[in-house]
Amino acid sequence: MGTLDGKVIIITGGGTGLGRSMALCLAAEGADIVVAARRKEPLEETARGIRKLGRKALVVPTDVTDPTQCNALIEKTLAEMGKIDVLINNAGIVRGERRVPLWEITDESWHTGIDVNLSSVFYCSRAVSKYFADKKSGKIINVASGEGFRGQRDSYMYNTAKAGVVNLTRVMAMSLAEYNIRVNCIVPGFVDTFEYQPEEYQQAMAQLRATGGTRRLFIPIGHTGKPDDIGYLALFLCSDASDYVTATPFICDGGGLTGGFATTGYAPVVSLKEALA
Ligand SMILES: NC(=O)c1ccc[n+]([C@@H]2O[C@H](COP(=O)([O-])OP(=O)(O)OC[C@H]3O[C@@H](n4cnc5c(N)ncnc54)[C@H](OP(=O)(O)O)[C@@H]3O)[C@@H](O)[C@H]2O)c1
Repeated sequence: MGTLDGKVIIITGGGTGLGRSMALCLAAEGADIVVAARRKEPLEETARGIRKLGRKALVVPTDVTDPTQCNALIEKTLAEMGKIDVLINNAGIVRGERRVPLWEITDESWHTGIDVNLSSVFYCSRAVSKYFADKKSGKIINVASGEGFRGQRDSYMYNTAKAGVVNLTRVMAMSLAEYNIRVNCIVPGFVDTFEYQPEEYQQAMAQLRATGGTRRLFIPIGHTGKPDDIGYLALFLCSDASDYVTATPFICDGGGLTGGFATTGYAPVVSLKEALA
């Protein structure tokens, strides 16, 4: 308890899902939290939870695909909270990509998918980097995805952007190490944040659970992750306990990348039983 006392942490996408879970987990350990995303109401709800834990919360409505707004997020945080210790680049569009053949992807959807999931990490990191370099300390934690290590059927932007997040993490870590800045990324597997997703996803998830599909398909541990699983990993990465760690993707996926059947978009068509017969 109190591991993060006095630290100021920015979390993009902090109004829902993993972002909210990280916000509450880190606040419970003593951090003051700044949450940023487009919708104000979910951010305010997270902020209420943080304040209930006795910590300071600042809500900064931000579209992370706009570099000017990312710069403003950093400036506003410094003006109101006095400092920044950690930036967590968590915002992303998780299940919003329409699966269409390559030849049907518009320039607009390509740019949206890459901007929200990859350029946003660059914009926010760039905005805080000079401040961190000047004070010779700071941590950046990016949220990638197991999909960044896989191909997945018709998932062009998400999988490509998340692979970019993994390598942007490495490049930043190498470039900023001399300024005592640590850069790591969290690689979640299938974490159940469906309460924030459209109805059709909630139904698909319920069906998958009912048929034991999560174990059969790609999660050796046998169940999906909980948002708090990611929150506790973020706690380690925000704390001084991780000071000797940089450039590292931390996989938290119930064994999915190592031993599971990949979410390629083919597994439900050819069942494991048939494949091994
Ligand atoms: N859940 C999983 O299974 C899983 C697995 C692997 C990786 N991840 C990654 O984990 C991160 C969080 O996902 P989640 O599951 O917690 O989903 P989520 O609840 O949908 O959270 C995504 C957040 O990103 C914000 N966001 C989206 N576009 C934005 C924009 N242009 N500007 C600012 N904020 C934006 C959303 O808020 P607004 O709509 O209000 O802007 C939302 O709060 C994502 O990067 C995702 O790719 C999740």
